[in-house]
Amino acid sequence: MNNLSEQNPMRVPGHLAIIMDGNGRWAEQRHLPRIVGHRKGVDVVQSIVDECLALGMNHLTLYAFSSENWGRPREEVEALMGLLGRFLQKELSSLQERKIRLNAIGEIDRLPIKIRKILDDIVQKTSTNNNLVLTLALSYGARNELVRVVRKLSARAVAGEISPGDIGETDVVAALDTSGLPDPDLLIRTSGEMRISNFLLWQLAYSELYFTDVLWPDFNVVHLHDALSEYSRRHRRFGLTAAQLKKMDDKTKEWGN
Ligand code: FPP
Repeated sequence: MNNLSEQNPMRVPGHLAIIMDGNGRWAEQRHLPRIVGHRKGVDVVQSIVDECLALGMNHLTLYAFSSENWGRPREEVEALMGLLGRFLQKELSSLQERKIRLNAIGEIDRLPIKIRKILDDIVQKTSTNNNLVLTLALSYGARNELVRVVRKLSARAVAGEISPGDIGETDVVAALDTSGLPDPDLLIRTSGEMRISNFLLWQLAYSELYFTDVLWPDFNVVHLHDALSEYSRRHRRFGLTAAQLKKMDDKTKEWGN
């Protein structure tokens, strides 16, 4: 753990999700090609992963490429895929050393075959690691994910495995790409935009949201700590009253004794 983490005790979310926005604007402000911003963005990913690990976080989910990003100019899409491929190739040994498990959500089939092969290999090789679970959302869009959930559940209903009237939230959760992962406790979005932009629409239902004007290439460990300090001050009630939550907390303490 570095000095910052030691000096600034805070409540660390079990699951942090990040919309890493602003790479293009960061580069444009400097009259540089957009890809330079994305490249800088990858360096930031590495330092934020390191810090989340040092803080003892269990899950970090990063929105690395959306379903809509396929519509960007061909050169930018190719450059992003190139960056992703190089990132994955470079990271395998360091993920293994730090016992980080890599996971991917989204329409992985749409990724170039070369990337898919590297990704499958790393996901498989890191599958028993038990430190941080790093989930990359790649070719991911929440509406598309929900459409795929509906298809899976209706196929099971047609096959007679489930009755439509019995379908409940647990069936939906099990059919999501994030099945097996807890919902994010905190979502950070950089670059001043205050939108969810088709990210984890179901899973973010009760997450705390944190927006910052900082562009992703400028985002650093101090900014991360600012977000976590703000999160530590939030009171999460999950639709219940504060009194009900206190009662539940007291009961848990009682059972713990
Ligand atoms: C948003 O910036 C960011 C993206 C579309 C991609 C995020 C990707 C990275 C940080 C690099 C690749 C990640 C990994 C894990 C290898 P933007 O281009 O939308 O910025 P703008 O809104 O300023 O145009």
